[in-house]
Amino acid sequence: MKINVQESLDTKQEVLALGLYDDNELFNKFNESLSKELEEAIKKKAFEREFGKTYSTTIKDSLYKSILVISLGKKQDLNIERIRRAMQRIVDYLRKRKYSSFTTNILNISDMTPKEIGRAATEGLMLSDYVFDKYKSKKDDRPELKAVFQYPDSKAKELLEGISQGKIIAEATNYAKDLVNEPAIVVTPEYIEAEAKKLSKHPKIKVKIMSKKELQQKGLNLLLAVSAGSDHDPRLIFIEYNNAPKGMNAIIGKGITFDSGGYDIKPAGQFADMKCDMSGAAAVLGTIKAVSELGIKQNILGVIPTCENLINGSAVKPGDIIQAYNGKTVEIMNTDAEGRLILADAVAYAEKNYKPETIIDLATLTGACVVALGYYASGFVCNDEKLSGSLVKAGNDSYDRVWQFPFYEEYQDNMDGDISDLKNMSVKGKGREAGAITGGVFISKFVNLDKTKWAHIDIAGPAFLPEAKEYNQKYASGCGVRLLSYYFIG
Ligand code: BES
Ligand code: ZN
Ligand code: ZN
Repeated sequence: MKINVQESLDTKQEVLALGLYDDNELFNKFNESLSKELEEAIKKKAFEREFGKTYSTTIKDSLYKSILVISLGKKQDLNIERIRRAMQRIVDYLRKRKYSSFTTNILNISDMTPKEIGRAATEGLMLSDYVFDKYKSKKDDRPELKAVFQYPDSKAKELLEGISQGKIIAEATNYAKDLVNEPAIVVTPEYIEAEAKKLSKHPKIKVKIMSKKELQQKGLNLLLAVSAGSDHDPRLIFIEYNNAPKGMNAIIGKGITFDSGGYDIKPAGQFADMKCDMSGAAAVLGTIKAVSELGIKQNILGVIPTCENLINGSAVKPGDIIQAYNGKTVEIMNTDAEGRLILADAVAYAEKNYKPETIIDLATLTGACVVALGYYASGFVCNDEKLSGSLVKAGNDSYDRVWQFPFYEEYQDNMDGDISDLKNMSVKGKGREAGAITGGVFISKFVNLDKTKWAHIDIAGPAFLPEAKEYNQKYASGCGVRLLSYYFIG
């Protein structure tokens, strides 16, 4: 996507995209025949003035091939998310009508700061324009799009800063979408390792890989147990981005490249989507890519435990008791509750050996979280108010939203074992109550909550969407990348 900024609309582009608030005049001064046509269209209800509705036409003797009018609703209701959505209307129109360039006044007529509107508009354009067509024999011809934003010269510098941030964040999000959409026959633990190593081309990034042998030597037996039924060796991946004299925060992503459920196998027809179970890992890779390109002045550690959850003669069985890296023993009540097992070893190892101030883990952890929140928010638990506040804010601003669950004392013994220290599935009541929270309770037993600020974010719903909406496509959404990028930008 090429994006330019100039003081006037650019008549050299194919499409003119005009934003219109609900109380604006209908471009009477700009073009009389357009204004008359819109008036007619409004009467016939062919064009409505609520946010997001569009109307397209051509005007005689115009330099533009086409005009797209986008209703922006009330000016006071315009926000950065609406800017992203307005940009989606433009991309959708261009691609459907096979145009490849446009100019727009939308940024110019808003009151938002140049940086935030530049960032959001660019995100909206680039996220909308994503397709995963690599396995289609016949691909649509999709020339690179060109956008020209009308904006005052005096503020163009800040707008361009926002645009460049938006580009980085959207590219990283689209990169995460690619990783998740790619099938599990391709995305194996070794593939995730190769992607992590690609990031180390950046001068401030170092990547360290723990192989199966090292995992055995150091006793990360939960990760080893989950991977025991697979022909692919597990890995624990560390991506160190260092760009500050001190301090460090860790982000840890679940990297199950395929989740069959193991011996507690998932019902037939219900696990074709389980290639998405490495969405947490994709969020970590995408975020490190984004923060390094943004030049964030912090030290950020990305951690990815990765393996497959499959079945063979060596696979872990229900009832097996395994000793974790931190010494605690876990009875495997359900081999399908594998994400918490690999995360437990990863958080304990990262905390002990790197001593981060904050740990944020992201995982497609529970179906219960999808039941609770659906597809438009991730659920999280957290032991620190400031951290939870920052996450909610980053979520609302980026619209990669998070919703906090309670973490009451009463939940804390749900995962206690009777012949082991812990069980990997709650055995209280029917075992499924508060499933998204008890998943978090399990992981929390592997973090020193007195020392470390911690949040566990369950992205099972929004990471992989059942339908396209606004600028998100069906399937992978790159969930987590925008949330964490905004969080680290601050
Ligand atoms: N990967 C799944 C969770 C999931 C469900 C991700 C739907 C994406 C969409 C996870 O490993 C799992 O199977 N969890 C179990 C836990 C239960 C056995 C305690 C679940 O949610 O049923
Ligand atoms: Zn599972
Ligand atoms: Zn899983």
